[in-house]
Amino acid sequence: MSYPFQINSLAQYHADYKAAAENPDVFWANVAENFYWRKKWDKALDWNFTEPKIEWFAGGKLNITENCIDRHLATMADKPAIIWEPNNPEERVRTVTYARLHKRVCQFAQVLKNNAVKKGDRVCIYMGMVPELAYAVLGCARIGAIHSVIFGGFSAQSIADRLEDAQATFIVTCDGAYRGEKVIPLKAVIDDALIGNKTVKKVIVYTRTRTPVSMIKGRDIWWEDEMDIAEDQIEKNGVVSFKAEEMDAEDPLFILYTSGSTGKPKGVVHTCAGYMIWTTYTFVNMFQYNQGDIHFCTADIGWITGHSYILYGPLAAGATSLMFEGIPTFPNAGRFWDIIDKHQVNILYTAPTALRSLMSFGDEHLLGKNLTSLKTLGTVGEPINEEAWHWYDDNIGKNKCPIIDTWWQTETGGCLITNLAGITPAKPGWATLPMPGVQPVIVDEKGNEVTEADEHGMLKGNLCIKAPWPGILRTTYGDHERCRVNYFATYPNVYFTGDGALKDAEGNYRITGRVDDVLNISGHRIGTAEVENAINMHSGVVESAVVGYPHDIKGQGIYAFVIYNGHHGDENLRRQDISQTVAKIIGAIAKPDKIQFVKGLPKTRSGKIMRRILRKIAEGETENLGDITTLLDPDVVAEIKDGKV
Ligand code: WT7
Repeated sequence: MSYPFQINSLAQYHADYKAAAENPDVFWANVAENFYWRKKWDKALDWNFTEPKIEWFAGGKLNITENCIDRHLATMADKPAIIWEPNNPEERVRTVTYARLHKRVCQFAQVLKNNAVKKGDRVCIYMGMVPELAYAVLGCARIGAIHSVIFGGFSAQSIADRLEDAQATFIVTCDGAYRGEKVIPLKAVIDDALIGNKTVKKVIVYTRTRTPVSMIKGRDIWWEDEMDIAEDQIEKNGVVSFKAEEMDAEDPLFILYTSGSTGKPKGVVHTCAGYMIWTTYTFVNMFQYNQGDIHFCTADIGWITGHSYILYGPLAAGATSLMFEGIPTFPNAGRFWDIIDKHQVNILYTAPTALRSLMSFGDEHLLGKNLTSLKTLGTVGEPINEEAWHWYDDNIGKNKCPIIDTWWQTETGGCLITNLAGITPAKPGWATLPMPGVQPVIVDEKGNEVTEADEHGMLKGNLCIKAPWPGILRTTYGDHERCRVNYFATYPNVYFTGDGALKDAEGNYRITGRVDDVLNISGHRIGTAEVENAINMHSGVVESAVVGYPHDIKGQGIYAFVIYNGHHGDENLRRQDISQTVAKIIGAIAKPDKIQFVKGLPKTRSGKIMRRILRKIAEGETENLGDITTLLDPDVVAEIKDGKV
């Protein structure tokens, strides 16, 4: 069965693209008719990019969980909503039907209510990939609390900053999380994050690893106890119910923090209706999801990919979403292929970095794995190199599955540019065509539209979007001006993505990477300024400069040039001290791959670090460093080149 808004042919793609561009309000109102509203909207779209103000379906009333769960119960109560595959393949798989998901989400919503969490309150979720994480997220949405999920790899300090920024009052966590051979002590990290915190009133702890944890009377409560209490409250005579809060279309649904070019991560805000419609529409169309398919997105729910394409998009579409707790290389590099074989997975959505890593372990991990259930493959998070694309195509899709290269961002809510599986053509290394509703434009440094092709027939420049689609961010939490400056002020009247792109004569886009000071490490976004701030926190560091460099597996690696003053241990120990400091301040994901100690940094006479030169050196370029005559002290360049690590 296909969906009423499913694009079934190339001709329909072009027709829908045109319709959405010409009459966005009519087009998206038609799509919106396929959702469950308590009250329909007054106005489909109202916007300007100067403030910015973006409103989709204003006046509409709904609750996203009624769309993701309740409306499926009449026909799909016993269908698996979530299939959970644990870290350890010997542990029992959990299958959560839509009926069970409904019960658990109602129960957790009741727990929140019992603990005085109200509509609009901010709830921080710091958990491993367990089904209870889905219950927590959706439970928040059910009562209208704004969830802010924090990836389990972030440190106590990072969590503390986010709690403060969001003024969160409630935390959901686990005692620990399994990651391959390791147990990550999540509750202990939360305890550290709460030192000095003034807003959090309660911390609820789900037992996953039975790691000993401190439980502070009056603040810390157990998930299991609270869920037991709630069970009787929501269930009367076999009927489960917890009336979902009625939300305005434009009420905030969640905050998700992401890095930018300044030191402080920003809280991207998505709202209820537009985000729901965008994630569902893109989910169905890019993967060409059909009822009954099993969808396996390998992302963590701590990132936007997990929010949009493990939870909200698939569930609103009534899909079966496979949720995986572990890592691709545990117990061995055949883990993904075992899961696909075991659950007869139809759609695999993963990151190029994971593919490159698995490639490097050799093809013997594919032996004996039956992958014939696969119909569609997808990638996300970074440009995919042709070698990885062909490996994916040959070894996983066996040249029978379309591969979609989906370009998007935390801020875009869902995918903006991709081929549609089996409908629009793929081009290795290219994200290809925009989704209906997305109007990209390539601009030069001054913001003028690039119209002249280069010698290869390509338009080349910075990627912007001309008009809002339903899933665009609405603000950055607590600081609307920051949202304006970051995304809407670089160039007038467009949303600036921060990415560079090429456009070919057929209208295909190729994303060439960030043009701002943001790195993409294994598909995760980290700001250079953020890493520098963390390095500079180390007592021996005088100054530092961080750039990215090409990394075989991660896509980009972090290269830090550090001026150091001290004598504690040899260079390697000092490097480890610095890495530990970064892990404490941001989290292990931001540890530099390379640290080079230098006597000076290349600076202009006005004191600005010339990162262009450092980037070239980090990339291994020795000859063409460009003009260095404007440097305050050109000699430092030779010294840095000689000391390259
Ligand atoms: C940045 C956004 C989208 C969810 C995961 C990352 C890069 C993302 C692609 C792609 C080339 C890509 C961009 C973008 N990116 N997808 N298919 N091809 N680059 O979300 O952390 O918000 O990062 O990831 O540079 O701006 P994010």
